[in-house]
Amino acid sequence: MSVTADIAAPLGMTEPTGSETAAAPVAAATETTDAFFSCKNIESYYGESYIVQGVSFDIKEGEILALLGRNGAGKTSTLRTIARMDNPTLKSGEIYLGGKAMHPLKSYEAAQAGIQLVPEDRRIIGGLTVEENLVLSQVAPPIGWSIERIYEHFPRLAERRKQDATTLSGGEQQMLAVARALAREIKLLLLDEPYEGLAPVIVQEIERIVAGIKKEGITTIIVEQNAIAALQLADRAVILDMGEVVFSGGADHVLDNAELRANYLAV
Ligand SMILES: Nc1ncnc2c1ncn2[C@@H]1O[C@H](COP(=O)(O)OP(=O)(O)OP(=O)(O)O)[C@@H](O)[C@H]1O
Ligand SMILES: [Mg+2]
Repeated sequence: MSVTADIAAPLGMTEPTGSETAAAPVAAATETTDAFFSCKNIESYYGESYIVQGVSFDIKEGEILALLGRNGAGKTSTLRTIARMDNPTLKSGEIYLGGKAMHPLKSYEAAQAGIQLVPEDRRIIGGLTVEENLVLSQVAPPIGWSIERIYEHFPRLAERRKQDATTLSGGEQQMLAVARALAREIKLLLLDEPYEGLAPVIVQEIERIVAGIKKEGITTIIVEQNAIAALQLADRAVILDMGEVVFSGGADHVLDNAELRANYLAV
């Protein structure tokens, strides 16, 4: 559980100031000693569209952070920025993982450094078996969990190892997408709507998997429309609205605060 002070601020009263001044230096963002991951005042654009508007937050090693907000709040864009995708383009701000700067990196370099994004559409490769999908993740170093270790954590995938990956159920495809991320060097797992389209019983299975990954000490950011489910799993929460942080604090605080949820999460 987080012991950091909660910051529940209405729009415009949040920590990252100066989001209008894109050229402002980020020197104001000081190094937090126990932060394993941090983004400091990150600003990113799709072309001319200013989308991620000065987002800052920290995560301790091994924590789960729920990144929440309504449709279009900028959650996927924030994850893509952290994974150093070309789009949206990071124009200013800093990103650190384990003390190393990620902001100067390309997406493949960030992946090599251990940032693994599991996108909403899962990107399972059809025409390949479950096992071939996993093996393909490990063609280039640095590799993460062994295939054997993955099967220990995902017995369903072990059972279906010889099946074409496209014959898997939605929940199994989500498991495979997460397993592929673990098969690579992994320090920060980014999950974009992992429960989307899944039946409640399957959501519970994915939740157990994410909790198991936390036990292994992996730091995770989970984006979910199912905010309650994400918050129950998370240590901390960040709520975005219109590309800005409007809340940063303990997950329990959001679970206990109906007004906050009504204002920014529609739950
Ligand atoms: N490729 C793109 N080009 C231009 N604008 C985009 C692009 N992708 C997203 N946007 C815009 O960026 C804003 C943030 O979108 P984003 O997908 O990050 O939101 P989100 O919080 O993930 O929403 P959702 O809950 O619907 O997934 C939205 O206004 C969206 O229209
Ligand atoms: Mg999204």
